[in-house]
Amino acid sequence: MKKNDLDFTGKTAIVTGGRRGIGRAIALAYAEHGAEVAVIAKNHDGSGILADLEKTGTPGHYFSCDIGDESSRRGLIAEVVKQLGGRLDILVNNAGMQFYETIENCTEDNWKKSEALMLDAPYDFSRQAIPFMKAQHNGKIIMISSICAIREGGANFGYGVMKAGVAAMARCMANSLAQYNIQVNAIAPGIIRTDLTERQGCFEDHRYKSVIQKYPAGRLGEPEEIAGVALFLGSNLSSFMDGQLLVVDGGFSGN
Ligand SMILES: NC(=O)c1ccc[n+]([C@@H]2O[C@H](COP(=O)([O-])OP(=O)(O)OC[C@H]3O[C@@H](n4cnc5c(N)ncnc54)[C@H](OP(=O)(O)O)[C@@H]3O)[C@@H](O)[C@H]2O)c1
Repeated sequence: MKKNDLDFTGKTAIVTGGRRGIGRAIALAYAEHGAEVAVIAKNHDGSGILADLEKTGTPGHYFSCDIGDESSRRGLIAEVVKQLGGRLDILVNNAGMQFYETIENCTEDNWKKSEALMLDAPYDFSRQAIPFMKAQHNGKIIMISSICAIREGGANFGYGVMKAGVAAMARCMANSLAQYNIQVNAIAPGIIRTDLTERQGCFEDHRYKSVIQKYPAGRLGEPEEIAGVALFLGSNLSSFMDGQLLVVDGGFSGN
């Protein structure tokens, strides 16, 4: 272990959905540790995250793309890597959304939207990223899964299935990419304070008090607490960790 294992100077990273929430915290954590970071998100206005990246003292890049759309994804990673100077060290497949539906009321349309964003995009972007990482004989791919991949999920049917799929994707990719010194892991966050969970009312007083009964930590999480784990997985410190699903949930799943 070296003192500078968390120094990301000279490294580059792409974070999907890095404009807000968990992805934003991950993008900023990498930038604060010296990486040059490119964010891909849906909204055309990336000025907020670009300004925040700039404050870290490293250059930031923003690409607007509906990554659930196959034709919009085509060739995108090569275009981003070109802007990053030809190198890609870390890809974080983070962008996601959630429909509250059981198997009985999960519509085909919502199922397909979930699949396009949370399975097709990580699959496609990873395939686009691998040739760059292979050529460098170095790379980290991180999937943002969810606690719904392994716990509960009845009312999150499509979401839980896609998040289990992306965790399996990490394991299966890790198996075949380890020979190129590319490590692939997934993170399963419990409930984290973001627009997504604020919108769901998880942080409203009465709901919060009841939800945290299931969390031994006695609270829900903050985006920076996921970014810390993504920092570890993006660094040399995790060089022998591969194909794993890291649960980060304040003890919820061990309850
Ligand atoms: N928050 C939690 O408690 C929690 C728990 C477990 C897992 N997760 C997972 O963590 C990830 C991030 O969640 P979050 O809570 O940070 O969500 P969030 O605050 O809603 O942010 C989602 C990000 O994804 C981007 N995005 C959504 N759809 C997109 C599309 N079609 N094309 C491109 N970008 C798209 C959004 O882009 P715009 O900003 O441009 O709209 C935004 O930057 C998701 O995969 C989520 O499932 C979250």
